Amino acid sequence: MTVRFAVVGCGVIGALHAEVLAANPDTALDVLVDTDHAAAEAVAARVGGAVPVTTSLDEALARDDVDAVAICVPSGGHARIAVAALEAGKHVVVEKPVDVTVEAAAPIVTAAAAAPAGTVATVISQHRFDPASVVVHDAIEAGRFGRITSAVATVSWWRSQAYYDSGAWRGTWELDGGGALMNQGVHTVDLLLWFLGRPVEVMALTGLLAHERVEVEDTVAAVVRFESGALATLHATTAAYPGLSVRLQVLGDAGSAVIDDDRLRYFHSKELATAEAAGDAGVRADQGDRSDQTALVLPEEPGADPANPMFTGHARQYRDIVEAIRTGRRPGVTLEDALLALATVRAVYESARTGAPVRVDDVLAAVNVPAR
Ligand SMILES: NC(=O)c1ccc[n+]([C@@H]2O[C@H](COP(=O)([O-])OP(=O)(O)OC[C@H]3O[C@@H](n4cnc5c(N)ncnc54)[C@H](O)[C@@H]3O)[C@@H](O)[C@H]2O)c1
Repeated sequence: MTVRFAVVGCGVIGALHAEVLAANPDTALDVLVDTDHAAAEAVAARVGGAVPVTTSLDEALARDDVDAVAICVPSGGHARIAVAALEAGKHVVVEKPVDVTVEAAAPIVTAAAAAPAGTVATVISQHRFDPASVVVHDAIEAGRFGRITSAVATVSWWRSQAYYDSGAWRGTWELDGGGALMNQGVHTVDLLLWFLGRPVEVMALTGLLAHERVEVEDTVAAVVRFESGALATLHATTAAYPGLSVRLQVLGDAGSAVIDDDRLRYFHSKELATAEAAGDAGVRADQGDRSDQTALVLPEEPGADPANPMFTGHARQYRDIVEAIRTGRRPGVTLEDALLALATVRAVYESARTGAPVRVDDVLAAVNVPAR
């Protein structure tokens, strides 16, 4: 069964969704929606021109040939459209972050719970599907690093003033929901939680240091304590010229890994290295001790475009989404996962505002989220 999509919001990321959906043999792009007709027309032209366009969400949701809706409007508009799509009987794929506050996102959880069984509601977090992320997650789950004691996460990027000036919604609390951590860093927050588990408490400082006419932060330094006892430092900035990398170090008492710009740069597991040294045929030589990622990158999937990592990342997550829709299983990224990442970012902002530690559960109290 081909899953037929509407894409709502035809800007930078909506165009990418449209390209991925048009290229995937398991999906079809049936309508493009944007309040700016010209934006939808431009994306239609980019994917071949034959896709209908509309400025009316209601018109798109009324179509019988739309099974699912990809929501690619500015972040503060996600929940309203997701709820309307769920109530119209569609599956929903929401761009990150799920919305700008836990309170704003909560109605999606309610609407998804009320939807018929098998309705998929998921949020884009494409880096969970990077081969490096999967290798590290699997190693942690299998206990290959022993007890995870800490992590160091840094998003050291540069965004020019022109970037913030390029859209009225950028850098606003209402529609962007935050700055370097909410917009650029939420991917890394999600990976950190996927690897380390449930966060308990956050302490943070933020600053606006290299941009103007922006309401939100361009630099964050935070510490996070997890339910397991593990500690993490979390740093995100859009003020690191000319833009360095996104780096995530996961450190355990029997092994560690480093992902840098989505690639596995370091991997060592005491158990696997010992088994490898003893000639255990069950252990691949590339699993035990690598200080480079070359041998650990999984074979590329069909349709992956190494020259376009954004395309490849979204294409990977769409394969998971299509399978979830076809089989009724949970998607790889659940609403609960996305809410936890959002609540962690909000806890960082609340701690920076008050100067006090903030418990993530207190932020989540606005919505009834089942504990994992
Ligand atoms: N997963 C990723 O790596 C990634 C990358 C970039 C952006 N994003 C997310 O995607 C979202 C959009 O970001 P962008 O950079 O594409 O923004 P953008 O400004 O380039 O595009 C947004 C589009 O939405 C349209 N729009 C606004 N309100 C609308 C409405 N109510 N109905 C229909 N269309 C509407 C605008 O006209 C515009 O064309 C944000 O939430 C952002 O965080 C995710």
